[in-house]
Amino acid sequence: MTDEALVTNRNSDTPSTDRTDVFLAITVTALCANLWRFFMAYIECRNLTRTYTKASTTITPLDGLDLDIEEGSFVALMGPSGSGKTTLLNLIAGIDSPTSGSLMMGAVDVGKLSRSKLALWRSVNIGYIFQLYNLVPVLTAYENVELPLLLRNLSAKDRHKKVAAALELVGIDDRHDHFPRQLSGGQEQRVAIARAIVTDPKIIVADEPTGDLDRASAAEILSLLQQINVELGRTLIMVTHDPKTTKYAGRILHLDKGRLLELESSTASAPGIHP
Ligand SMILES: Nc1ncnc2c1ncn2[C@@H]1O[C@H](COP(=O)(O)OP(=O)(O)OP(=O)(O)O)[C@@H](O)[C@H]1O
Ligand SMILES: [Mg+2]
Repeated sequence: MTDEALVTNRNSDTPSTDRTDVFLAITVTALCANLWRFFMAYIECRNLTRTYTKASTTITPLDGLDLDIEEGSFVALMGPSGSGKTTLLNLIAGIDSPTSGSLMMGAVDVGKLSRSKLALWRSVNIGYIFQLYNLVPVLTAYENVELPLLLRNLSAKDRHKKVAAALELVGIDDRHDHFPRQLSGGQEQRVAIARAIVTDPKIIVADEPTGDLDRASAAEILSLLQQINVELGRTLIMVTHDPKTTKYAGRILHLDKGRLLELESSTASAPGIHP
């Protein structure tokens, strides 16, 4: 190639090199934007405060709490009785609203939603597991799990598919026609877990889910919750009084008098582990 040709080639390359640079810059910017989204906390509490006033007395179960929880984490929430664990769980679950501060769940400030919008947001995003299961006694295991789906615009066939899959996942499909009184505590909690996951919520909150179970049943339920966290990638926030149960979680939070005292990582291999 002659020198002249080389110069001509270089000159003709320049515009396409510029285009490549611009394209690269746009790609890197887009990647950075998405990386930021990836690492962004899904639950973001800022100065979160809840007070209750009765007569002339004001109780402050949550007092200016700052907390970030990443999507896909398994968080155990500990602390003495009355320290505000259930209060925090209920705010995250959209059952209650903060007195002040902000509570961002993804891009939504749930603390600012009206009651009806909050109820809708909750039905899509939250599965709640209670210590005493809270199953409807006159409904079978199948009907209890089907209940949250009745609020959705689903065909009977689609509902059946979802209920059957949830009952199978928690290993209770052979008891689908049993009423709660015909089930053991561990089995009742499995049905309650199936009910919590059947709508495919992003976040599952559990308030002392093993508090009423013997050690063996508790271990089975905790393994099941860990499986739901790891395999389905659901964010799990669990209140517990038992330090042994925290080994299933990736992160342990301590609440005391409405304040977050310390954070520590457990040895669990669940995602969302914090340093
Ligand atoms: N609706 C309410 N009205 C008035 N006070 C409330 C209300 N809900 C909670 N409290 C008060 O807030 C404080 C924290 O209650 P919370 O239920 O969050 O504690 P907890 O940490 O879950 O305790 P436990 O381990 O016993 O379940 C308590 O002093 C409680 O009496
Ligand atoms: Mg409580």
